[in-house]
Amino acid sequence: MKPSLTLLTLAIATGTTAGAKLAQTPQMGFNTWNSFKANYNESTINHITDLLLSLGLKDAGYNHLLLDEGWSDMSRTADGYLQSNQTTFPNGITPLAERVHSKGLKLGLYGDSGILTCGFRPGSWGYEERDALTLASWGVDYWKYDNCGGFQAMSNAPQERFSLMRDALERTGREIFYSVCEWGFQFPWHWGGGIGHSYRMSGDITASFINETGCPCKTAYCLNTGYAGCSVTSIMRKMREISVYQKPGHWLDMDMLEVGVGDMTVNMQKTHFAFWAALKSPLIIGADLRTLKNESLEVLTNRDIIALNQDSLGKPVHFVEDVSVEGSLQVWAGEVKGGNVVLIFNEKSYPQEVEVSLKDLGLGIERPVRAKELWSGKSWGKIDSVEASLGAYQTLVFRISR
Ligand code: GLA
Repeated sequence: MKPSLTLLTLAIATGTTAGAKLAQTPQMGFNTWNSFKANYNESTINHITDLLLSLGLKDAGYNHLLLDEGWSDMSRTADGYLQSNQTTFPNGITPLAERVHSKGLKLGLYGDSGILTCGFRPGSWGYEERDALTLASWGVDYWKYDNCGGFQAMSNAPQERFSLMRDALERTGREIFYSVCEWGFQFPWHWGGGIGHSYRMSGDITASFINETGCPCKTAYCLNTGYAGCSVTSIMRKMREISVYQKPGHWLDMDMLEVGVGDMTVNMQKTHFAFWAALKSPLIIGADLRTLKNESLEVLTNRDIIALNQDSLGKPVHFVEDVSVEGSLQVWAGEVKGGNVVLIFNEKSYPQEVEVSLKDLGLGIERPVRAKELWSGKSWGKIDSVEASLGAYQTLVFRISR
């Protein structure tokens, strides 16, 4: 379907930033990729929409429904417009967007900054203006923009490719959240904030806590970031160097959550979720909501952990090297409104007794402070150190009031 004339007029009239206001806190939602890959259709999406409401996920803050690779057709229309997959979305995107909006949710789609998406569907290189208008005319609220592309992805700098679409989206006059997916190539924390509302900082996550399936880089500054197959802990490791770049308006995206996907233990799922939340990553559920276990739903809807992510200060935790023990114990700490947050992660596959003194964390804590552990929901009273027994891969998360 062609974009309307009204939108074309609006497109010329604007040119201002669609809004850092869209990303004052990290975005939350659901994305199809981790569980469905490209295998979903209109009725799957309607079902997921309804589950976001009935499982209480929308109430917990998950307000975006994001269709990744698979929604679009293998080719453009005869006159060169993006179109939905004619078999799986025969009614197009407009009625879908209307349904999603009627439930109080926002709709997102996926595209690419080169000639092709990673799944060889049409990319937007050379069509940025036209595609942005098409998205706006359909009522799309969120655009994830990938880096596969083919020839154009490699021969034109990402700064150029991703800026072209940013400008095109802004000119539509519609508020469209712009999620840059560049996998951490060319270190986007140095430039992505000026382009996207969020930007990926690593290759694709896989549903594995420790083992990589294709993610050779162990640090953020490494020239082979790997395109896919990164474990939860390897993405956490990269954030040690770059969490400092987290700022309201543009968030480093640690990729979609694998909570409820694969066979991670509950402790692993809790650790995964706590770090994504406290590091201010977008919280995008990747699990199949139709089969989600209660234990995973409880992790994903823990209000206290979500509140860390959505805290108005927008400050991430940082790795506290001096009190951490490489390969064994990780301590991360930071500021939230009215206090601090401290994460203590047992990196071992067996339980460990730990003792961490709060005054050693560089938070300016000199006296006992009131602390609550967020997973158990228990208040620890006033403490100046944490002495605890941690299970395999468990993370205790303390919120400290000052
Ligand atoms: C890339 C992205 C993923 C997903 C797939 C879809 O790998 O990084 O998040 O969007 O493409 O093909």
